[in-house]
Amino acid sequence: MIAKESMVKRKSVRTYMDEQIDSSLMDRLQKYTDVVSSPFDTNIRYEIIDAKQGEGLGTHGFIKGVNTFICMAVQDQERTEENLGYTTEKIILYAVSLGLGTCWLVESINKDHFAKAMGLKNGEILPAVVAIGYPAEKRSIRDKAKFTITHSKDRKDWSEIFFDKDFTQPLNKENSGVYSEALEMLRIAPSGFNTQPWRVIKSHDSFHFFVERKKKKNGFDYDKLYIGIAMSHFEVALNEIGIYGRWIDENPNLSKDNKEYVISFII
Ligand SMILES: Cc1cc2nc3c(=O)[nH]c(=O)nc-3n(C[C@H](O)[C@H](O)[C@H](O)COP(=O)(O)O)c2cc1C
Repeated sequence: MIAKESMVKRKSVRTYMDEQIDSSLMDRLQKYTDVVSSPFDTNIRYEIIDAKQGEGLGTHGFIKGVNTFICMAVQDQERTEENLGYTTEKIILYAVSLGLGTCWLVESINKDHFAKAMGLKNGEILPAVVAIGYPAEKRSIRDKAKFTITHSKDRKDWSEIFFDKDFTQPLNKENSGVYSEALEMLRIAPSGFNTQPWRVIKSHDSFHFFVERKKKKNGFDYDKLYIGIAMSHFEVALNEIGIYGRWIDENPNLSKDNKEYVISFII
């Protein structure tokens, strides 16, 4: 099952072994994708696509040896982005627990080709796909270049992203008690270009999630998708140590500068 171990092990894999995924693993992945739970009620349709059957399912050169993609279609609904980030990241962590490698792909794909391959319906959008397969032992040169460009190893310090009661006081590991590991798992979550736009205020047993954007763009809100990814890491890690809570939209009015409130987790 998915747990902290998968979060620590997960990294973006861009060089694969060029082998089909074992059918029993595919079955397990498909079953998990069918039942995976999400915090909000939005429509998400997943389709696992074998690239060898598809015509010209192009990835932009960085991704080598991959034959399988998890394609996703959503509709323009409230909380679509957070829900998609949360749910897909859980599928990724499950895939990692099966020994598979994955990589979220937004920029490095031709979305029209994938949309055609999954039969995108009216009113649906395809914001991303996930490459999935057996990781190659040696990474390609282009993979290594990409790894450097996106600073994959780097994550922001605790003091930049976690705060105590409001945005004036940073929260450190030592004074976050039983929550420290779950916050650490949130900190290592993936985001596009590794932007890590999540900011969290801890107030007693409540955690208020904010987004700090580089630039607000129209259309699908990828920053909120990254918040959804962070939410999943945090909640899954808490559940692993027997702590449960719920997501609620109750703005504590603590926003500051360009930090925009998204959602709270209440224990
Ligand atoms: C929503 C999303 C989209 C991404 N799109 C791409 C992409 O198009 N191409 C790529 O090579 N990596 C992509 N990445 C991978 C990120 O660059 C990577 O997660 C980040 O640099 C952190 O590295 P790590 O995943 O190895 O921890 C994406 C990640 C996320 C979460």
